[in-house]
Amino acid sequence: MAQNAFSLASRTKLSNGLSMPTIQLGVYLTSGRETSRAVRLALESGYRAVDSAQMYDNEAESGKAILDFLSSGANVDGLKREDIHFTSKLASNSAYSTARDAIKRSVKECGLGYIDLFLLHSPYGGREARLESWRAVEDAIADGEVRIGGVSNYGVKHLQELLDSKPKILPAVNQVEVHPFNTRTDIVEFCHKNDIVVEAYAPLVRALRMKHPTIVSLSKKYQCTPAQLLVRWSLQKGYVPLPKSVKKERIIENSQVGGFSIEQVDIEKMDGLDEYLVTDWDPTNCS
Ligand SMILES: NC(=O)c1ccc[n+]([C@@H]2O[C@H](COP(=O)([O-])OP(=O)(O)OC[C@H]3O[C@@H](n4cnc5c(N)ncnc54)[C@H](OP(=O)(O)O)[C@@H]3O)[C@@H](O)[C@H]2O)c1
Repeated sequence: MAQNAFSLASRTKLSNGLSMPTIQLGVYLTSGRETSRAVRLALESGYRAVDSAQMYDNEAESGKAILDFLSSGANVDGLKREDIHFTSKLASNSAYSTARDAIKRSVKECGLGYIDLFLLHSPYGGREARLESWRAVEDAIADGEVRIGGVSNYGVKHLQELLDSKPKILPAVNQVEVHPFNTRTDIVEFCHKNDIVVEAYAPLVRALRMKHPTIVSLSKKYQCTPAQLLVRWSLQKGYVPLPKSVKKERIIENSQVGGFSIEQVDIEKMDGLDEYLVTDWDPTNCS
C-alpha cells in the first residue's frame, strides 16, 4: 500500500487469513445515547469498525446503532452486517464455563448475531484463568459466535505463556496502549515477530499531549492537526489505531489522515517522546 493510501477503507490482514478495518472508532467512556450517536456519526462518515467491551457497558447501544444504520436510508452503499467490524472484550478472566457464558452474553447483548473480534481485556486473574478464558474464546470461534480471537494489555510474558500453551487458535491481535509517549517497543517487537497485529488504544494520548511543542511543530510542518499527526504516526508504525471521539467534526478529522506522510526522521523524533505515559491502566506487567 502506498504511504498516502490510508483511509477508512484501508484494511489490515490478520494471521488467520481474515482482515479488519485499519482505523476503528473507540467508544470507551461513552454511554447511552452518546454511544448510539457517536457510532451512527462514525458509520455515516465512513468508519466500518467499533471497539467496545463488556466493561464499557455499551455493547447494546453500539450493536443497535450499527443495525439501525444498516437498515436506514443513510446506508447508501447497501452495506450488510458483515461489512461492519465489531469488537468486544471479556471483562475478567475466569474458569472456562464462566468465560464461555460471558462471551455468549456479549453476543446476545450486542444483537449482531456474532462478534467479529473478541479479546481477553487484560491478563489479570493468573495463568490458569488466562488459559481457560482463551479456551473459551477458541470454542466461541468454533461455534461461530466469534470470528477472530485476541488479547489486550498482554505483556511479552503473557503472550509467551499463551503461545507456549500450544493453543488451537493463535491470538491474532494484542490491543495495548501505544502512542509516541508510550511506545511499548518490547511488546510491539514480540507481536510483529509472531504475526500478532497491534491495536493501538489511546492513540490520541487521551488528548493529554495535544499542545506538546514537538507535536505542535510537526502538525504545522505537515499542515494537519495534532490528532491527525498522532493517528498517522500509529498507521505508519503498522498499528490499528482506535481514536475515540463523540464529536462529529473530530470523528471525521481523526480519520482524514491520507493527505500527508510523516518522514522517517520525524517518525523517529516522535518515537523519542516516549515517557511511558499511562493514560488509563497498565496490566502488562501483572503476574
Ligand atoms: N483495551 C483497553 O484496556 C483499552 C483502554 C483504553 C482505551 N481502549 C480503546 O481505545 C479507544 C481510544 O482510547 P481512549 O478513548 O482512551 O483515548 P484517545 O482515543 O487517545 O483519546 C480520546 C480523547 O481525545 C479527545 N479527542 C478526540 N478527538 C480529538 C481531536 N481531534 N482533537 C482533540 N481532542 C480529541 C476525546 O474527546 P471527545 O470525545 O470529547 O472528542 C477524548 O477525550 C477507547 O475508546 C477504547 O475503545 C482500550
